[in-house]
Amino acid sequence: MKAIGLTRYLPIDDPKSLEDIELPTPTPTGRDLLIKVEAISVNPVDTKVRAPKDKIESAPRVLGWDAAGTVAAVGPNVTLFKVGDPVYYAGSITRPGANSEFHLVDERIVGHMPTSLDFVNAAALPLTTITAWEALFDRLGIAPDGSDEGKSILIVGGAGGVGSIAIQLARRLAKLTIVATASRPESADWCRQLGAQHVIDHYRDMPAQLKAIGLPQVDFVLCLNDTDTHFPAMADAVAPQGKICSIVENAGPLEVGLLKSKSATFVWEFMFTRAMYETPDMIAQHKLLTEVARLVDAGTLRTTVGEVLGPINSANLRRAHAQLEGGRTIGKLVLAGF
Ligand SMILES: NC(=O)c1ccc[n+]([C@@H]2O[C@H](COP(=O)([O-])OP(=O)(O)OC[C@H]3O[C@@H](n4cnc5c(N)ncnc54)[C@H](OP(=O)(O)O)[C@@H]3O)[C@@H](O)[C@H]2O)c1
Repeated sequence: MKAIGLTRYLPIDDPKSLEDIELPTPTPTGRDLLIKVEAISVNPVDTKVRAPKDKIESAPRVLGWDAAGTVAAVGPNVTLFKVGDPVYYAGSITRPGANSEFHLVDERIVGHMPTSLDFVNAAALPLTTITAWEALFDRLGIAPDGSDEGKSILIVGGAGGVGSIAIQLARRLAKLTIVATASRPESADWCRQLGAQHVIDHYRDMPAQLKAIGLPQVDFVLCLNDTDTHFPAMADAVAPQGKICSIVENAGPLEVGLLKSKSATFVWEFMFTRAMYETPDMIAQHKLLTEVARLVDAGTLRTTVGEVLGPINSANLRRAHAQLEGGRTIGKLVLAGF
């Protein structure tokens, strides 16, 4: 089968940073599905895993943890899917990624695809949707049924892949008042279109801007970019007994003491945790993706595709990585077909 892989970790302008390769088609065992991959989307995790370093792989490493496709074969213990089902999923960081014609994934982290979307529009959703859903509803404890209506959230980095679905979930399901951050007119417009009532600039004084819009303190903060830089402003903005969730690793120590007098909570979200540790509730991601498919088909949520970069090959994937590394992507980048 065709695949895109790496053996060396090189800057993305080097053609050898991601190469077209041939690999044997794998066979599913246990609860694995063999997926015929139709479309993929690209995430910063791909660029972080690919980041230049001295290590050399003895066998090609395949990246890519966001895909839509069709079930081509099932392992003997599969109960949730059958051959021919259209599916969408992110997969597990501890296994090979989906940048290949065929791909193995555990059925417990796969969802039935929305029937109203094609593969391109479905591939944009899984990784970011799992992240945003778990962050808002599992980690921050926001009610997905709207019973927290009237409470407020600051979403730092609103126009990116995760922000684009987090804004929708926080607005259309939880009915929160949303302040998103964006630094450019086009990214600010995107946040408003998705449901943010207010947009402030993450490169300017955020507490001052929150005061200016009459929301000096917010009940929740969701940090989707540069946790180190934004931590003091988030600690300032969060209300007493409020909660902050970050999905972005810190480079230096975070001053958690800033949260003490407010009895505020800081919590991490890592969407690979359930698959990585095979937690007993791992199937929650199957349920979550299937529920999101229902919400998309009902018109409650929409896809977050920003740009389609063409067929799945190394040249287009390198373009996607380069664009993501620029840090100014709006919505999701998708590639489709081999
Ligand atoms: N923990 C997890 O499970 C998990 C899951 C998914 C992603 N992540 C991580 O979350 C981060 C965001 O992912 P993503 O897919 O949303 O990325 P993305 O699509 O590349 O995000 C791009 C957006 O980031 C905004 N941005 C750039 N610099 C910023 C800054 N200093 N402060 C705030 N916003 C800034 C940009 O807005 P403007 O153009 O308006 O400046 C742009 O719209 C990445 O670090 C990723 O690795 C973690």
